[in-house]
Amino acid sequence: MSVSVFMKILESSPSRYDMGIRILTFGMDMEVKKKIVSEYISEGDHVLDIGVGTGTLAVLCAQKGAYVFGFDISSKMLEIARKKVKSAGLEEKVHLEEMSVVEMDTHLKENSFDVVVAALVFSELSETEQIFTLKQCYRVLKPNGRLIIEDEVKPKSLRKKIAYYIVHLPLALITYIISQSLTKPVKGIEKKLSEAGFEIESCFKFFYDSLILIVARKVV
Ligand SMILES: C[S@@+](CC[C@H](N)C(=O)[O-])C[C@H]1O[C@@H](n2cnc3c(N)ncnc32)[C@H](O)[C@@H]1O
Repeated sequence: MSVSVFMKILESSPSRYDMGIRILTFGMDMEVKKKIVSEYISEGDHVLDIGVGTGTLAVLCAQKGAYVFGFDISSKMLEIARKKVKSAGLEEKVHLEEMSVVEMDTHLKENSFDVVVAALVFSELSETEQIFTLKQCYRVLKPNGRLIIEDEVKPKSLRKKIAYYIVHLPLALITYIISQSLTKPVKGIEKKLSEAGFEIESCFKFFYDSLILIVARKVV
């Protein structure tokens, strides 16, 4: 299932984003987010949520007792996130800001987060932005802090690849017609993580190997 090609459509209508992602991933996206929170977030953690979107993961982290700084380039997505945070009574725990990954170097202090999460975001960044963002993640994490990436990748086996293209190509065309833009599955993320100084702890695959969850640690 190709999720990323639909993201642009869903983001152009943020009020439908949560429902759309739930349907597109058959609820798997929420399961992955719950796994992130239950296994990698602890009470009192300082968490950076890159491309926080409508705030689903930020709210789950804050409900576990973490302090979350979430940022996103889209004011519309942030509007939904703010409503969600308010209705959950978590305004003391979640701080949201409109900014881009390219501002991380000037807006965020080094060694200041226990965990950085980036869910379905790297697939929307250019190669240069991905490399820059990984370096910034390394800089802002405390020593031994974790970077957790959930994103879409192309499956490796031929059978899964064929299934992926059968679904992906028509969706890509529809997305392009509607939004004049395309997203792409992330490529070579493990290599980029190593080059940025991270040590990969775990890599989980879901959804016919097209959705990955990578847990990497800042080793010093
Ligand atoms: C597919 S959504 C994922 C949202 C959320 N993390 C989730 O898992 O539901 C991708 C988000 O990344 C944001 N985004 C894309 N490019 C960005 C950039 N350069 N800087 C910050 N956020 C960005 C988009 O606005 C969008 O909200």
